[in-house]
Amino acid sequence: MRNFFATACLIGSLFTQLGYAAPQDQVKEKQAKVDKFVKDESTVAIQGVLANIGPDGSKVSGAAAGIVVASPSKVDPDYFFTWTRDAALVFKALVDRFIAGDQSLKAKIDDYVSAQAYLQTVSNPSGRPETGGLGEPKFNVDRTAFTGSWGRPQRDGPALRATALIVYAQWLVANGDTARAANTVWPVISKDLFYVSRNWNQTGFDLWEEINGSSFFTLAASHRALVEGNALAGKLGKPCDQCTAQAPEVLCFLQTFWTGSYIDSNINTNDGRTGKDANSILTSIHVFDPTAGCTDSTFQPCSPRALANHKAVTDSFRFYAINAGIPQGVAVAVGRYSEDVYYGGHPWYLATLAAAEQLYDALYQWNRRGSITVDAVSLAFFRDLVPNVATGTYASNSATYKSLTTAVKNYADGYMAVVQKYTPANGALAEQFSKTDGKPLSAADLTWSYAAFLTAAARRNGVVPASWGEPTANRAPGVCKGGIPPCTVSVTFNEVAGTSFGQNVFIVGSISQLASWNPGSAVALASDRYTNENPLWYVTLQLPASTSFEYKYIKKTADGSVTWESDPNRRYTVPDCGSGAATQNDVWR
Ligand SMILES: *[C@@H]1O[C@H](CO)[C@@H](O)[C@H](O)[C@H]1NC(C)=O
Ligand SMILES: *[C@@H]1O[C@H](CO)[C@@H](O)[C@H](O)[C@H]1NC(C)=O
Repeated sequence: MRNFFATACLIGSLFTQLGYAAPQDQVKEKQAKVDKFVKDESTVAIQGVLANIGPDGSKVSGAAAGIVVASPSKVDPDYFFTWTRDAALVFKALVDRFIAGDQSLKAKIDDYVSAQAYLQTVSNPSGRPETGGLGEPKFNVDRTAFTGSWGRPQRDGPALRATALIVYAQWLVANGDTARAANTVWPVISKDLFYVSRNWNQTGFDLWEEINGSSFFTLAASHRALVEGNALAGKLGKPCDQCTAQAPEVLCFLQTFWTGSYIDSNINTNDGRTGKDANSILTSIHVFDPTAGCTDSTFQPCSPRALANHKAVTDSFRFYAINAGIPQGVAVAVGRYSEDVYYGGHPWYLATLAAAEQLYDALYQWNRRGSITVDAVSLAFFRDLVPNVATGTYASNSATYKSLTTAVKNYADGYMAVVQKYTPANGALAEQFSKTDGKPLSAADLTWSYAAFLTAAARRNGVVPASWGEPTANRAPGVCKGGIPPCTVSVTFNEVAGTSFGQNVFIVGSISQLASWNPGSAVALASDRYTNENPLWYVTLQLPASTSFEYKYIKKTADGSVTWESDPNRRYTVPDCGSGAATQNDVWR
C-alpha cells in the first residue's frame, strides 16, 4: 500500500509541476490517504482511550474503576487527575460506540456509572453534594477530592455527565433493562440535572479553565441535558419539573452569544478576546442531532450560523507558521483561540478534529434533508469552497448541491489530513502540536484527543448518535427571563381523618402556599385512597426548601361550614434544596 501511495503522490506532483490539472485524481488520492489513516488510527485511538481508564488501563495504574485519567503525564504538565468534563465526553463517545455495536464496552460503562455516583457524594472545595459540589472540575484518580487552588466551579461537568448517562439509560430502556436505568443510572442523572437547573444562570469557569463568565459550550450542554433528561424522566415516570421550565430559558440565553457573524464563546466577562474559540465548534458537534434541520437557534452543524462561525474560528488560526500559505477553503491546524498562550498557544488535535467533525455532521444533515440552503450568513463559508456560488436552496439532484457537498467533504478530509500530517508514526495523540514545526507538545496520550478522533472518524463513516430531541426543543422564547428558579421540595401530606358524606379535608397554614390561614382558599386533599379501614386524605405540594411554617387540617362541607383541628398548630420544616421528596403523616385531632 505504501508504494501505491508513493507512486500516486509522485504522479500527482508531476502533473502539478507540468501544469496539468488532475483535480479528480488528486482528490481520490487524498481521500485514499485519509481512509487509510482513519482505519489505522482508529485502532490506536480506542486502545489509547482504554489505556487511560481504571482500574486496568495499562498507562494509569492506581486509577479507580471507571475513572478516566486525562493523560498519563505526571509532570510538565501534571494531568494525572480525572476531570468530570473530559471523562463525560470520553464516555459519551464510548456509549455511542457501544450502542453502535462494540459490546466489549458495557462493563467499562457500568464502572463509569458507579464511579460517578460515588464522586457525586464527595465533598470538595466547590461544596458539599447538595451545595454546589457537583460543579467541582477535577478529582484525584483514587476518587478523593483535589483540594489545591483551581478555576472552579466548572458547570459543564454535570451537564455533560448527564448526557453520557442519559444516552446509556435510553439504551437500557430500549433493551429491556428499565429497572437498571431507573434505579442505578437515573439517580446520578437527576442530581446532575438538578444542579444544571439551579446553576445555569450563574457564572463559572469555561472548558479551558481560564475564564470566569458565561461559556457558550457550558450553556449549550446544559440545554441539551435538560431536554433529553426531561424525555428520559417521562419514560421512567420520574419528575423533572425544572427541566421543562428551564430548558427554553437556557436556549433563550444562548441566542445572545451570536454576534451577527460568529459566536462569542465567553460573555458576562471582560476577557479582552474576540471570542472566536474552538469552544463553539466543540459545542456544535456536541449538540448535533441527526434528526434536526439546519437550525440556527441550536447552532446545528449545518446551520448558517454554525458554518459562518466555523469559517471565523478556523480563519483565526491562519497566523500559525505551519498554516502559512494555505489558501482559503483549505484546511488548517486549529487551536483553542488565537490569544492562547498556554504552552505557547499551539494547535490542538481535538480542536482540529472537531473542525472536521462539524463538517461531516453537516453533510449528514444535508443528505438527510435532500438540500442545501446558502443564505447571507453562510455565503462566505461556501464561497471559500465554491467561489461563484449564490444564495439559494439547492436540491440534492442539482449540480450545485453536488459540487458543494463534494467540496465540503474534501474540506473536512483536509482537517483529518492535517491531523495525519502531525501525528507521529506510532499514532500517539498528545494535547497539542507545535505551530512552528508540528511536533507533538504538552500532555502525551491525551484521552480527549483519542476520543475526539473516534467521534470524527465515526461521523466520517456515516455513524451518528441518537437524537436528543432537538426538533421538539429548538424554539427560544422571545424574551429571556433568566434568574435562578426558587428551590422547592415535593412534600406529601397524609392525613387520616374519618369524614361523613359531603365533608372534605383541606390543609391551611402560615405560608402563602397554604393560603395564609384563610380557610376559604385552603388546599384540598384527595380522597381516592379513602377506605373505612384507612380513611386517608392526601396532597402533594411543591414547597420552598428550608422553610418552617405552622398548619392545620380542616373539614369543610358544601354549605361552607368549617371544622378546625384542635390546638396547638402543627409545625413543619421543608427539607433543604435537593434533598428529594418528603412525606408527613398526620392523624386528625
Ligand atoms: C442570566 O440570564 C439572563 C437572561 O437570559 C441573562 O441576561 C444573563 O446574562 C444571565 N446571567 C448569567 C450569569 O448567566
Ligand atoms: C466569578 O465571577 C462572579 C461574578 O460573576 C464572582 O461572584 C465570583 O466570585 C467569581 N469567581 C472567582 C473564583 O473569581
